Amino acid sequence: MSQSPSAPEDEGVSTAVKHALGWLVFGNAVGLYLSVLLLVPSWQVGEWTYGRWVPVHLNVQLYGWTALPLVAWLFSMYEVGRSKSAAWAPAAVWGWSAALAMGALHWLGGETGGKIFLDWKNGALWAFVVALVMLWAVLVMAWKERAGGWTKLKRRVSLGGLVGLAMVPGVIILTASPKTYPPVDHLTGGPTGSSLLGSSLIVVGLMLLLPRVVAGSGKGRAGWGTWAYFGFCWIFFGVAEAVGGTHFDWWQNFSLLLMPPWAWLLARDWKGFSWPRDSRFWRMAMFGWWGLLVLTGYLMYFPWILDRIKFTQGLVAHSHLAMAGFTTSFCALLAVLLTGRRVGGAASVTLWHGAVVVMILTLAAMGWREGAEPSWMLLKPDWREMGLTTRSICGIVMLSVSTGWLINWKTR
Ligand code: HEM
Repeated sequence: MSQSPSAPEDEGVSTAVKHALGWLVFGNAVGLYLSVLLLVPSWQVGEWTYGRWVPVHLNVQLYGWTALPLVAWLFSMYEVGRSKSAAWAPAAVWGWSAALAMGALHWLGGETGGKIFLDWKNGALWAFVVALVMLWAVLVMAWKERAGGWTKLKRRVSLGGLVGLAMVPGVIILTASPKTYPPVDHLTGGPTGSSLLGSSLIVVGLMLLLPRVVAGSGKGRAGWGTWAYFGFCWIFFGVAEAVGGTHFDWWQNFSLLLMPPWAWLLARDWKGFSWPRDSRFWRMAMFGWWGLLVLTGYLMYFPWILDRIKFTQGLVAHSHLAMAGFTTSFCALLAVLLTGRRVGGAASVTLWHGAVVVMILTLAAMGWREGAEPSWMLLKPDWREMGLTTRSICGIVMLSVSTGWLINWKTR
């Protein structure tokens, strides 16, 4: 089901990427403001407290910066740009952004379901559901027109994709409801090892799919062993998830031990494809962060580490490793592959990753101390202020770099 990247003039794809970059800039500005509020709490504006800005920062980075490149990918896979529904694709992206903007206003107004990354409630929830349905309708229209010319396999897989996507609005309504609960590790209140494995395997699936759908050419080096291991991981996930447990149970720990081999397996697979030159930096960065993520993610799950850094800045360090490091690299790479245009030059990309590294190391060090002795945050104000200031400086760098990416994208 190999397919050439969308033409640069594909309006739907380029609108989705432009909006994604716009949300990245806004999300970073909010992140920077949050980090400054910790240093100067008097900079709070009215009732828009730190706690109200946090879901804005998180959701804008997830539903804006991370999700919209995936929307662009869907447009490309379903060949929306070559169908009569092409004119509707930018409208679907605008609908998505409008729902997210409405969400931000709701969260700032204190209207939230209270679930992290699933804060959608009332009007904002329904606006997002409408945006999802609109996007789905655009894909269905394109499928009906284009699928006749595709191979049988692509026709079936893409139809399966539409069936799966049709369930997303319902899943969002259900999971955002305060009445439903995900499986949690009862000792930490966090996700179980197996549920972390499940969400990581979705990312592995996307990384197996990406080169097969958008890379220039090549077959990849994932032999039967890789596919069998992928299947085994899913089966283990299903069993461990059904059994449940905590981070003291070997099967929950083993769930995460299944991830580090993917650092090597995926890198080996991707070597079997040929890639556009402009994608090199982001590919290297993505695999660097991916390796770090699966390794540190595994180590962090050991009770003597998890119990120490849970609810400290250490966990915020992990989140930024995952999202500002890995996910950002994945999304930027996707943007480059789908449009054939660069996201940043060598200098700005290096600056971004340098700032993320410094931010993560600072937060991890603070979290480690804080976990041993929470009063350290109060008793050592100089160290605390220095750490928080360092994070703000990194935020200024990241905000400036991402603003440059957006401006270049719009003017080129
Ligand atoms: C300008 C750069 C950034 C700054 C200064 C910044 C700052 C912050 C701050 C202060 C928090 C703590 C919120 C809390 O108290 O719970 C936070 C949390 C978070 N940020 Fe950022 N951020 C930045 C960029 C990003 C990016 C690019 C992403 C994702 C693509 C991201 C994803 C997250 C996530 C997932 C959390 C939740 C952490 C947790 O609760 O474990 N941030 N950020």
